[in-house]
Amino acid sequence: MKTKLFLFGAYLLLFTQACVTSKSPEVLKDALKDKFLIGTALNIGQIWEKDSLADKVIKRQFDAIVAENCMKSMYLQPKEGEFFFDDADRFVEFGEQNNMFVTGHCLIWHSQAPDWFFTDDEGKEVSKEALIERMKDHITTVVSRYKGRIKGWDVVNEAILDDGSWRDSKFYKIIGEDFIPVAFEFAHAADPGAELYYNDYDEWHTGKCEAIVRLVNSLKEKGLRIDGVGMQGHLGMDYPSLDEYRAAIDAYSSAGVKVLVTELDVSALPSSRQNTGANIADTEAYRQEMNPYANGLPDSVSFAWNRRMGDLFTLFIDNSDKIARVTLWGVTDGDSWKNDFPMPGRTDYPLLFDRQYKAKPVVKEIINKLRIKN
Ligand code: XIL
Repeated sequence: MKTKLFLFGAYLLLFTQACVTSKSPEVLKDALKDKFLIGTALNIGQIWEKDSLADKVIKRQFDAIVAENCMKSMYLQPKEGEFFFDDADRFVEFGEQNNMFVTGHCLIWHSQAPDWFFTDDEGKEVSKEALIERMKDHITTVVSRYKGRIKGWDVVNEAILDDGSWRDSKFYKIIGEDFIPVAFEFAHAADPGAELYYNDYDEWHTGKCEAIVRLVNSLKEKGLRIDGVGMQGHLGMDYPSLDEYRAAIDAYSSAGVKVLVTELDVSALPSSRQNTGANIADTEAYRQEMNPYANGLPDSVSFAWNRRMGDLFTLFIDNSDKIARVTLWGVTDGDSWKNDFPMPGRTDYPLLFDRQYKAKPVVKEIINKLRIKN
């Protein structure tokens, strides 16, 4: 009798387990495996696995990661020659432990760079030669530390403006446009096996897109390695059009490099206007007008958002011969930088997982679409 009961119990357990595992696994990385890598940016808490619910989503859904902040120069080298690698080391380890493609973001960027980089002991602007030397030290130290482990680097971030002209950053002012080839050269020397990318936002603007293509061509003409263009993909509900985005994907791919969507988010909020010149009362009204979904997203907006994200993924899947990776800039809506940019203190809904860590309907749609196709 006891044996029979035991066998029945064991059978019941196996049956329940089978039922659980045969439930359709809503896993993006499996569904997209033949198309492109699907990644997410990790914040500090996620790198150190402080948030167990986020941890589950990250490990289950994504096969690529990038650090949202901790590998930027102001964090890696806050003082000249004093590097801080604890967070970055853990981030790379996290990727390796979970078989993820690890991207380094970013080596040279005008923003989130420490002031010392551009000034001497007396606070005066450094010479061209000195700045190149600092770039070399920074890039060489960082890239060689993760040689063979970080598979691709955003070498230069945001050097071009929407109209295609060079951004007047300190790098550009002090060195001129040569700061870009120089950065690629140093990165390649430090890890000849790593992929190297140029990364930018508004990457679909015609003027900027043409300038990035010219940059790719000029790096290649100089015999330098460039593997891909990172299209940041900070997009809105009504911009860019799918045709504009497709045209940019085509343009980069035709330049002979991989296309990577590196920081995807789709804001559900109205775009903010600048310099309103309004008085305080108007400002408060304006703030409310700009933050219309603080208490939740109405069904109609949620529906439109999911359709927009779905259309973008359809575009990516249809162009997966050109696209090597699509990375979301964060895991859940609650994590997103868009809650504070370009206006602080708003409630946005730009990512694939909601504030309760639940996949949005578009996630299932992407998975189902690929199931039907395959
Ligand atoms: C953002 C981070 O998400 C924020 O937490 C930080 O305060 C500012 O930077 N383009 C980039 C990213 O290349 O590094 C930026 O990340 C977003 C815009």
